[in-house]
Amino acid sequence: MNAYAQELRATAKAMVAPSQGVLAMDESNGTCNKRLNKIGIEPSEAMRRAYRELILTTPGLGDYISGAILYDETIRQSKEDGTSFLAVMKEQNIIPGIKVDTGAKDLAGHPGEKVTEGLDGLRDRITEYYQMGARFAKWRAVITIGEGIPSDACIEANAHALARYAALCQEGGLVPIVEPEVLINGDHTIERCFDVTSRTLRTVFNHLSTQGVAFDQMILKPSMVISGLDCPQQASVEQVADMTVKCLMDNVPASVAGIAFLSGGQSNEKASAHLNTMNIKYAEQAPWPITFSYARAIQGPALEHWKGQSSNVSTAQKLLHHRAKCNAAAHDGKYTPDLEKEMAAVTA
Ligand code: G3H
Repeated sequence: MNAYAQELRATAKAMVAPSQGVLAMDESNGTCNKRLNKIGIEPSEAMRRAYRELILTTPGLGDYISGAILYDETIRQSKEDGTSFLAVMKEQNIIPGIKVDTGAKDLAGHPGEKVTEGLDGLRDRITEYYQMGARFAKWRAVITIGEGIPSDACIEANAHALARYAALCQEGGLVPIVEPEVLINGDHTIERCFDVTSRTLRTVFNHLSTQGVAFDQMILKPSMVISGLDCPQQASVEQVADMTVKCLMDNVPASVAGIAFLSGGQSNEKASAHLNTMNIKYAEQAPWPITFSYARAIQGPALEHWKGQSSNVSTAQKLLHHRAKCNAAAHDGKYTPDLEKEMAAVTA
C-alpha cells in the first residue's frame, strides 16, 4: 500500500469539507498577464505577486476556502513584508496545492484539439513541491466540442496523461485533482455536452484504473454539463444540475473522494446557482461531496475592482470573500439571491 495513503485520504477529505471549496489561483504567467492586461495593468512579476498577495491575505478567506491551487511562480513568492505565501496560507488554514501540468499543446495530426503536457521530470517536481509544503496538485486536460471533435485520439491521449500524472502524485504524497475540462465554447446543445462529458469521464476512469490510481485519494474537477455559450437554447439551472449529476452518477466511481467543479466561463451567479441546485437536489443521493474549485467565478469581481491600485485592495478583498462565501453556501445548498445583495452593499 502507498505509504502516503492515510495522509492522502485525510487531505482529500479536508479539501471537500462542508461549507468550503477550493480556490484556483494557478493561472500560468501567460494567462495571469492576459487578465492583468484586460484591466489595464502592465503585467510584470511584481504585479502578479501583488495580486496574489491581495488574494491570500483576504481576511477570513480560510473560512470558505479549504485549499488553494498555486502556480510554480506563486508557491515561491512572498508578501511585500517578506512573509512567504506558504506561511500566509498556513495562518489562514488553507492547504497549498500546485498546478503541475505545463499546458495544453496542439495534438499532432488533430487540428483544433489539444493534449496537455508535463509528465517529463514530474516525479522530481512532485518531490520538491511536497517538501515545500504542497499537499495536492492539479492537471487540466482540455476537450473541445466541434464538428467531428473530440476525436478518440484526443480523449485517449489526455486520459492517459491524466492517469499517469495522478499515479505519480499519489506516489509522491500529493492528492491529484484530475481535471478533464470539456470547454463551454461553441454552439452545441446541452445534450451534446452530456455525451462528450460522459465519453470523456468513462475514458478517464478507465485509464485511472489501469494506472492503479486510488479513487478515494483523488478529487475529480469536471466541467458542468451545460449548453455551449453560443447555443440558441440555453438550458435552465435545474436542467444543468440534473444532467450534470446524472452524467457523474453514470460515470464516476462512488469511492472518489470528492467532486470540485471548475466554473469554465459561466457567470458568477450561474456558477453558484448550478452548484447550489445540485446540492439541494442530490447531496443525499450522491456518493461524493459536490463542491467548487473555481478561478474566474471567485476572482472576477475582485480583479476588476482592484485595477492594480493599493487603495482598492480592501474592497477587492471583500468582493473575493463574498464570492467565496456564496460558493461555500452553494456547497451546502444554502445559496440564495439574498446573499448576492450583501455584495451590492459592499460596493455601494
Ligand atoms: O483550470 C482551470 C481552473 O482551475 C478553473 O478555472 O473556474 O475559471 O474555469 P475556471
